[in-house]
Amino acid sequence: MSTVLPTRHPRLSVRDIAARKGGDPIVCITSYSAPMAKLMDEHVDVLLVGDTMGMVLYGLDNTLSVTVDMMVNHGAAVCRGSQKACVIVDMPFGSYQGSPEAAFDAAAHIMAETGCAGVKLEGGCVMAETIEFLVARGIPVMGHVGMTPQSANVFGGFKTQGRSDEGARIVLEDAKAVEGAGAFSMVIEQTIEPVSRRITEEVSIPTIGIGASPACDGQIIVAEDILGIFQDFTPKFVKRYAELGTDVSEAVRTYAEEVRAGKFPGPNHVYGAKKS
Ligand code: KIV
Repeated sequence: MSTVLPTRHPRLSVRDIAARKGGDPIVCITSYSAPMAKLMDEHVDVLLVGDTMGMVLYGLDNTLSVTVDMMVNHGAAVCRGSQKACVIVDMPFGSYQGSPEAAFDAAAHIMAETGCAGVKLEGGCVMAETIEFLVARGIPVMGHVGMTPQSANVFGGFKTQGRSDEGARIVLEDAKAVEGAGAFSMVIEQTIEPVSRRITEEVSIPTIGIGASPACDGQIIVAEDILGIFQDFTPKFVKRYAELGTDVSEAVRTYAEEVRAGKFPGPNHVYGAKKS
């Protein structure tokens, strides 16, 4: 008699994601913790451990002080919490811009310690050599062009990219450089729609949009933004699918009220209570 074991589906790989160019939309979302990864895993293709974590979880003003250790700890948690999605971990500011060798050391450390499938790094032409260096040494790279938050100080803020002819040319060249360097996909962030659409048409790897275009091969969003948990500011490209922030506040208000009124814990929430 043979035992029928439940089928365990392997995780989506970066090759599976790359093969989706022009096909079914690639669904990506950020995740920073094991429980959230577990809840979202079955619904999405890519879980991105983004450095937005610095702002969303740690209350930082921007992503610049996120460290490799933070990415490793949260990346490992997301890998433990998920089974199906392709997990990509962001390389934090300062860990890869110095040299291709420094980038390799940081990326190899992140991959070895988390078990993720690849890393994401920001920048186009200027990072092409580094992307090529990493890919040649076994590190799959997701690129990130357009508005790259780690360079917000250079842009003068979180400014929409591609508005002028010159701006559009820069983003297009960046995207082509990322493609040419061997990235398996790229995020296009906060870049005007026609430019994002044109990039998607002209590159052979999937584009993942955020504030970009419905024509992109996939979309990414910060989970806490669409769930109504992160309410510090809401960019135009965010759509709210839930108001969990309000639910959390209401649940904790009721809990506090019940504790203060002596209603919680009740007999069902303690051990060995005498039956009355
Ligand atoms: O850090 C992040 O979460 C990101 C996405 C918003 C693309 O880079």
